[in-house]
Amino acid sequence: MRRTVESGGFEEFLESSRAVAEFIKERALEGWSFTVLCHLDADGLSSGAIVGKALMRLQAPFQIRVLKQLDERSLKEVYTKDRATVFVDMGSGSLNILSSLEGAENIAVLDHHQPLETHLEEFKGAHLNPHLYGLNGSTDVSGSGVAYLVAKGLDPSNVDLSPLAVVGAIGDMQNRNDEMRLRGVNEVIVREAVESGLLKVEKDLLIPGRETKPIHRALASTMTPFIPGISGEEDKALAFLSSIGIPVKDGDIWRTLADLSEDEKRRLLDNLVAYMASRGVAQAETQRLVGEVYVLTREQRFTPLRDCREYAALLNACGRLGKPGLGIAVAMGDRRRRTLEETASVLNEYRGALARLIEGVIQNPSRLIDAEEIVIVNGVGLIPENLLSTVASILSANYPKPLIAFTETEDGMVKVSARAPKRLAEAGVNMGRIMAEAAESVGGVGGGHDVAAGALIPSTGRGDFLKRVMEFIGETVARG
Ligand code: C5P
Ligand code: C5P
Ligand code: ZN
Repeated sequence: MRRTVESGGFEEFLESSRAVAEFIKERALEGWSFTVLCHLDADGLSSGAIVGKALMRLQAPFQIRVLKQLDERSLKEVYTKDRATVFVDMGSGSLNILSSLEGAENIAVLDHHQPLETHLEEFKGAHLNPHLYGLNGSTDVSGSGVAYLVAKGLDPSNVDLSPLAVVGAIGDMQNRNDEMRLRGVNEVIVREAVESGLLKVEKDLLIPGRETKPIHRALASTMTPFIPGISGEEDKALAFLSSIGIPVKDGDIWRTLADLSEDEKRRLLDNLVAYMASRGVAQAETQRLVGEVYVLTREQRFTPLRDCREYAALLNACGRLGKPGLGIAVAMGDRRRRTLEETASVLNEYRGALARLIEGVIQNPSRLIDAEEIVIVNGVGLIPENLLSTVASILSANYPKPLIAFTETEDGMVKVSARAPKRLAEAGVNMGRIMAEAAESVGGVGGGHDVAAGALIPSTGRGDFLKRVMEFIGETVARG
């Protein structure tokens, strides 16, 4: 049964988070050293940093390892039974693998992906997952949110880590609803951050760098929603603003979004919506231009860390462009000038690469097949595996049907990112299950959430895999 924060699932979930905290504390007191394993996206890095901080405050020795994916091969490199291990933002879909490890009784899994139900009983470590309490891990709480609740179970003063839980939830796009705001457990965490004076919530245009960037650069760096012809193109953004009579300078000083009057903001929004509609962007997507903005009040003004959305983009950039250590350092509080300069340049590079990839797909009909029930994006030879997920998320927003993107990995496998609109997920299309089953049928692995999932499969299985996926989607749509 689907339960909500109001209907009681949250209380049991919270209780379980305290039990998992106790499990970790016991081992810390017994003198164990810890390995924290997390994923390389914004939610993964935020959750790794939350657990790292909490362990540091317990004075428990720990190291954080960032994984591209959880599989037997990567585990061989990082897992040892001699250390207690915390899997965060990963693990629930791999309980079979974890159960077979020696020392599994010293593993804690803090995750929000759909659990592998067949192995729940078998796993002897600690396991915290919102799905086990009727909550939805793709909308109610992120991996960072799960990690934060455990950190608070360890010590209430860890409430100062709440901003990271908000960053993680935004990174996982858990605010992708008609109001563009965080709900469920995330809303409870937002409230705690606000009450602690660490966060303020405002309603505004969702354009990155509201206070930090000249308005044309802010527009050009908007990736979700993707604005064809403007995202990634500062000159075109500049021309657009001048065509609608919005001055980009006040004397010699560049204006930011925060400097615009209400009337100018309204004009910008109306014109953007009309322009995007003329470029074929779905209306549901243009509505995503306005929503709640989460401002971190203790971060320096005029830095990307001030706005949770930009903070998340920065962590994604670090993780996906091969600098996960830099992302972890920032999330754990490193604010040295050199660090911040480096992250700013990684973020720039990331946005440029994404804009080029998206244009590369939408300009090339052979890469994007818009079929009746599904959109397929072929990224082979174009999209690097670490950027596939973000490209899939951005493109998917434009279609009222599932989107499957794939590319080749360095070692010749096929990596798949699948997205489904919320409406279809509510009607029973569960991408996480579809990916798990279709991948298994061709000897690969898959899983994830109802609206966002992925898989890694052998390249010889690609055709059969896609066929299975189409069958599953067809069956669910027919049933619904
Ligand atoms: O592994 P994890 O749960 O952290 O990642 C979820 C992924 O799904 C993120 O990359 C997020 O951006 C994506 N997502 C999406 N659309 C949604 C929800 C999540 O593309 N509605
Ligand atoms: O890689 P991508 O971000 O597209 O994956 C979407 C979601 O599916 C993420 O939450 C990711 O952790 C999850 N996933 C998974 N098992 C896989 C591949 C992806 O649980 N084999
Ligand atoms: Zn996550």
